Amino acid sequence: MHRSTAVPPSLLTCLLVFATSLTAQSIQYDEGRKLWLFSNEQSSYAMEVGPQGELEHLYWGPSLPRIQDFPPAAPRRDISSFDPHQMLDNQEYPGWGGPLYEEPALKITRQDGDRDLVLRYVSHRIQQDDLEIELTDIRDPVEVTLHYRVYPRYSILRRYATIRNGTAQQLTIESAQSAAWYLPPGEGYRLTYLSGRWAGEDQINREPIHTGMKVLESRKGHTSHNLNPWFAIDAGDATEETGGVWFGGLAWSGNWRITIEQTPYQQVRITGGFNTFDFAYSLRPGEALDTPAFFAGFNTNGFGGASRAMHRFERDQIVPGGAKSRLRPVLYNSWEATEFNVNQAAQEGLADKAAKLGVELFVMDDGWFGKRNNDRAGLGDWYVSPQKFPNGLKPLIDHVNGLGMDFGLWVEPEMVNPDSDLYRKHPDWVLNFPSRPRSELRNQLVLNLARPEVKEYVFNFLDKLASDYHIKYFKWDMNRSFSEPGWPEVAAPDQKKVWVEYVRNLYDIMDRLRAKHRELEIEGCSGGGGRIDLGILQRVDIIWTSDDTEAFDRLRIQEGFTQAYAPKLMSAWVTDVPNMNGRSTPLQFRFLVAMQGALGIGANLNRWSQEDMTFAAKMIALYKQIRPTIQDGNLYRLRSPRTDGLAANQYVSADAKQSVLFVFRHSQQFNTPAPTLLLRGLEPGARYRITCIDGKLREKQPELTGAYLMSSGIHVNLRNDYDSTAVVLDRLE
Ligand code: DGJ
Repeated sequence: MHRSTAVPPSLLTCLLVFATSLTAQSIQYDEGRKLWLFSNEQSSYAMEVGPQGELEHLYWGPSLPRIQDFPPAAPRRDISSFDPHQMLDNQEYPGWGGPLYEEPALKITRQDGDRDLVLRYVSHRIQQDDLEIELTDIRDPVEVTLHYRVYPRYSILRRYATIRNGTAQQLTIESAQSAAWYLPPGEGYRLTYLSGRWAGEDQINREPIHTGMKVLESRKGHTSHNLNPWFAIDAGDATEETGGVWFGGLAWSGNWRITIEQTPYQQVRITGGFNTFDFAYSLRPGEALDTPAFFAGFNTNGFGGASRAMHRFERDQIVPGGAKSRLRPVLYNSWEATEFNVNQAAQEGLADKAAKLGVELFVMDDGWFGKRNNDRAGLGDWYVSPQKFPNGLKPLIDHVNGLGMDFGLWVEPEMVNPDSDLYRKHPDWVLNFPSRPRSELRNQLVLNLARPEVKEYVFNFLDKLASDYHIKYFKWDMNRSFSEPGWPEVAAPDQKKVWVEYVRNLYDIMDRLRAKHRELEIEGCSGGGGRIDLGILQRVDIIWTSDDTEAFDRLRIQEGFTQAYAPKLMSAWVTDVPNMNGRSTPLQFRFLVAMQGALGIGANLNRWSQEDMTFAAKMIALYKQIRPTIQDGNLYRLRSPRTDGLAANQYVSADAKQSVLFVFRHSQQFNTPAPTLLLRGLEPGARYRITCIDGKLREKQPELTGAYLMSSGIHVNLRNDYDSTAVVLDRLE
């Protein structure tokens, strides 16, 4: 660890050698040049302090071995009076000041009206894989700490910034971004991102990047179903398995924004952090603001490689418990079976059936509390309904536990129905502008979690539930977006802080709950996938992917989800047909779709025939055998449901000992030949025992080599519409 400005040059040389040897793989530093080179699994990243003290980005891409290879910084000349040299500079964290016309990372207004901000290097500190760089304005102490973490075993970096008001006057921050990232200069890049809607999340978009700016964002208070804070960019030539892909995700569950900008000088830059829309964060003297973390990486194995890099990183470094987190249990959820019509006898009946199938976690969804008989009443009143559960929840939980299953409970802590005791008592607790109407969505209003008393109320009722009952798991739902986001109790200049403080307090409640109840797990849900991001994923164990549980639709949603997020985090249920879109797919198709993530059952088991039950038990037993490969293995997307009449995904365990192939046909056209599926990720020289679950594999050899499977491939005979199969490959020793 050292601060470069605080030590004499001779000592610096020693410290440089020391720091470099300590961190040889991750952070190299050249004091003479003030140049840093980060290296991790597949990529390098470099920046330096320029002649004026500005922190300049130099490089982000495939691994580079030597810091010495970077040419000395050359002074830049203005191109014209309209296009100053700053338009060619790639500042790591540009303040809006001087002639800056691209998206700034930080924009402020001082109390006296001065808005100019030009940030210069002051000092830095290296500690193992972390680098902190201090910047300050050229005139007054508006200070920024840039935080970098290099993950040597991954192709990913983490960046965020701390903005401090070291001046004697109040500042208002109008834009606080986590990072600006730069691609190697050039044109022809393509952007991939995820968009959608309620019950139609995570649809993949791929489009050329042209001059100008593309904005991905949420203004809804939560991450939102409409766009996800994730991007992937390639040079126009990447495929699913080849080519360089830059990718990243923001760790923020509120209003976020990522801009992808191509300058007139062919520089693509990505800037992301708090959404600037309706943003104003005042800092009194001495106060500071941390931006969300922005994780980003580069890999050379195409979009599939980028996904696998993210999956491994999320499993190891993001989710609670990291690499030690347990495999996700097979879950049953009551929602689609009973909706609000829950009671002890009916839930026990479902639990009995679920246990027979091999379910490990039984979750009672909405309807168990207050006067919650429909979505018009009860939210906010978190007492157990005496009509539905006259003896409380204990008898049901004991029953579920007695069947060998854990018990989980649905909650929607951030919301209130106007028809509730809580709202009648505290009508001021919701987001509101006092003299304006309060827009209800699903008959509910949003509690203002930014208020300390609301935060305490929410923490306390959840803590009480978790203390009073043997609850292993909360399904934490959030069923509407913000509107009228007023916080009238604080001074006007602080009211817009609600966007930030709400999310921070949400995180704080979850963190405190988890710290107090060490065994407690949380499922993140916002009407399905309305809150999926790397911030909430640091607090929840799994995500409810989408309220669209229809299996064929799910193939696309899951394909989109797994671009950015690991299959282990993707809760997927088998539900009844005809489903919400009127489609009926066979039970095997529904099972195999759901078995590609964390398997759950969301059907009304009272309607299932004995044959269905027997089949389901068999599929759940199979899932348990292949679960480590699905949840902790590597995913190869072989065929896309978007572009082929066939979807195929292959999962390979980290040690390549097991692989599972899932194949789905949408609608077969007569006599279409079975396509060749070239498998991936196997050990070429090893032999694999081949087990197809239903004999639809054309190859009948009991074993095949990895090389053959990957180079010659296999064929499945899917003949009917919504036909499906799965093949398990076990490596022979
Ligand atoms: C929305 C969720 O996504 C559903 O799974 C279910 O929990 C309902 N809310 C309950 O109101």
